[in-house]
Amino acid sequence: MSRILVTGGAGFIGSNFVRMVLSEHPKAFIVNLDKLTYAGNLENLAGVLDHDNHKFVRGDICDGELVEKTIDDYELDTIINFAAESHVDRSITGAKIFIETNVTGTLTLLEATRDKNIERFIQVSTDEVYGSLGPEGVFIEETPLSPNSPYSASKAAADMMVQAFGHTWGVKYNITRCSNNYGPYQFPEKLIPLMINNAMNDKDLPVYGDGLYVRDWLYVYDHCTAIWQVLEKAKPGEIYNIGGCNEKANMKVINLILSRLGKPETLIKHVKDRPGHDRRYAIDAGKIMSELGWKPSVAFEEGINATIDWYLENADWLGHVVSGDYQNYYESMYGDR
Ligand code: NAD
Ligand code: TYD
Repeated sequence: MSRILVTGGAGFIGSNFVRMVLSEHPKAFIVNLDKLTYAGNLENLAGVLDHDNHKFVRGDICDGELVEKTIDDYELDTIINFAAESHVDRSITGAKIFIETNVTGTLTLLEATRDKNIERFIQVSTDEVYGSLGPEGVFIEETPLSPNSPYSASKAAADMMVQAFGHTWGVKYNITRCSNNYGPYQFPEKLIPLMINNAMNDKDLPVYGDGLYVRDWLYVYDHCTAIWQVLEKAKPGEIYNIGGCNEKANMKVINLILSRLGKPETLIKHVKDRPGHDRRYAIDAGKIMSELGWKPSVAFEEGINATIDWYLENADWLGHVVSGDYQNYYESMYGDR
């Protein structure tokens, strides 16, 4: 399994995955199919775009003909589906594109897979499909799906479609459900890069509600190595939770960012809460650790410092990303919040 269709490989996690594979697995060949939405950016692939073992194809995973032709032309044997609309807040203001890409797009990939010699289909899913936790407990792979946002509902639907194609057509799949990622190349709509960018520019930090919502944070490189382990070692049909054993309240993360950047807490501004905001996510990643021997390699303090330094050192990347449409997005989301 070494000729891989990576979808969404110009986004945050996909581009980190492409970079990791090209540097650590020289026998792998990647075709990177990405629509280049607002979240996709060829600058995320700087230094690897023209690598001999990487071909970029601009296109939509909902375009079945293109998907089939790409698989045939490059004789691909593996699909890893990162492509998605990925931001909860955007799903609340407009869910339709989430159904199109996350559900219809996944279905299109599965239909293309059904009649071809695809050895493995990996669906990159999220812990958000399990819903929200109270102060105690963790998600295990058997936790019933109970998504709360249009984003997580669309990801849960995609997961179930993958399972249905496994059951009905024998598609050899795995599903990975990871907690919140952070690291280089993350679009500054998500908590950590948004707060870093605002703090760097002495802008208010918009904290939803009381700021005591809890997420489990995993450095993006560790998510990428987990997916690789699944590809290499997992039996078809298995689902794996992936997490950092690193629960943090949002305020704690924000205070770490402020302190590293030497900025005052007076930048913090509590704003109107997200509707339907999930209180807490926590992952039991014991299955992937014991069955596949994966474990996270980057501690949160190390990862957050590396991430902040990356944004400080990549002002050009950040400048391009926050120009134009981003300003309109920011104004519409936060203007009178
Ligand atoms: P992202 O928004 O940064 O990137 C998504 C990529 O998909 C972009 O490059 C975009 O251009 C591409 N894309 C969107 N629609 C497409 C379409 N119709 N056809 C082809 N390409 C399309 O997302 P991310 O944060 O890198 O997340 C990647 C995957 O990981 C998603 O499936 C997401 O649900 C999942 N995930 C993300 C996190 C996280 O913390 N970011 C955690 C767990 C799981
Ligand atoms: P986010 O990065 O959007 O990831 P998700 O909601 O998918 O977990 O948000 C992480 C947490 O940060 C979540 O509790 C919402 C909160 N948050 C804010 O308080 N302010 C913000 O501006 C953003 C984007 C998120």
